[in-house]
Amino acid sequence: MEKEKSLMNRSVNRRSLLKTGALAGGAVAIGAGLASTATSAFADESKSRVTKGDIAILTFLSALEQVEADLWIQYAELGGATNQGLSPIDIPFKTGLAPDYITGLLVLDGDMPQYIVDNTDDEISHHRFLNNYLQSKGAKSIDLSSFAILPPSQVSGVPQNGRLTNLKQLTIDTSWWTRYRSDSANPDLGGTFENAVPDLAKGQHPAIPLSDADLGMDGAGNISNHLQAIANTAGFHFAFIEQGGSSLYPALAQKVTDVEVLRVLLSIGGSEIMHFQTWHDKAGNATNITDGNLTFPNLNIGVDPNTGATGAKVADSFQTNLIMPEPTIFLDPKLGPVSIIRPTSTAQGGAVASVASFVQDGLFLDPATGKNTGIVSVLMRLAEEADEAQRKL
Ligand SMILES: [Fe+2]
Ligand SMILES: [Fe+2]
Repeated sequence: MEKEKSLMNRSVNRRSLLKTGALAGGAVAIGAGLASTATSAFADESKSRVTKGDIAILTFLSALEQVEADLWIQYAELGGATNQGLSPIDIPFKTGLAPDYITGLLVLDGDMPQYIVDNTDDEISHHRFLNNYLQSKGAKSIDLSSFAILPPSQVSGVPQNGRLTNLKQLTIDTSWWTRYRSDSANPDLGGTFENAVPDLAKGQHPAIPLSDADLGMDGAGNISNHLQAIANTAGFHFAFIEQGGSSLYPALAQKVTDVEVLRVLLSIGGSEIMHFQTWHDKAGNATNITDGNLTFPNLNIGVDPNTGATGAKVADSFQTNLIMPEPTIFLDPKLGPVSIIRPTSTAQGGAVASVASFVQDGLFLDPATGKNTGIVSVLMRLAEEADEAQRKL
């Protein structure tokens, strides 16, 4: 929380820089009066009203999708299905390089490797489409690959090129679990939520095998608790990432002016929600194991893993199959409970909040320096521009 606050403060201070045009990454390339090339059947709707704010939103989303694609590629390399099926998006790398890691993932669901490669090509497609769309509107696409300097897993066969994200030292917020089970609190109305796996929210935990030393089976064909814990960590991390996208798109959609840009956000945002729902379901199958300082609690025994409290309310807050969004308060408690995505406010689910949550997650931590890579300040600047966009009527 403290880290988030200081990030927010820093981001406010950067606003003056933005005003002077110091934005790196080229989010402001649209000229006035760029005519639409849309061929909508509805003449009145075909007039493009793509604003500078719309371009800032699309640019930020493309950047964040590149980050998502980078982390999903690492998961697919190690844990993805090798028979990926047909996809219009090429996955130009080898998948499923760590079969023992896959053994651990399969505990969560027999389809995990397939879902991992499918989520991966979805993210690649989101980034590519958003870049193509930006260009089609006369704006610049965005590419953050100059920040791909982080070392990947050392497992045999993994290409040793630098990456944008670090999946080896994660500190994972699992409060989305209780947030979506609450019937009386909403983060946009000040609600706070307990973790499902309190140990993941402190310390640093790998979500991928670091090297071949993490792999291997015993004589009975079982993987180690350590490797199962890595797979379980990945399972919760998948849902953490995708719940962020589920909130980010509706948060930014409220700032979009052009109807077609709104359609882009609603359509991609929906696929993030589909990802989240899938991973939410699978994380609940993580086995109740302990590896060092990391315990995956049994969430179906009616005991709060944070406090030890019991009771019907506690049981409802953690039960694994309660994966549909529980109706809760929204806008005004007087309106009654409703099943919704939450948060959808700028403060809780907007662009800056999303970057802050990725930073807190440890995704950009450079093990060589103990600091975040330079991608954070670029993402933060793009995020501020996106959050500052306003719907023009
Ligand atoms: Fe995405
Ligand atoms: Fe996603």
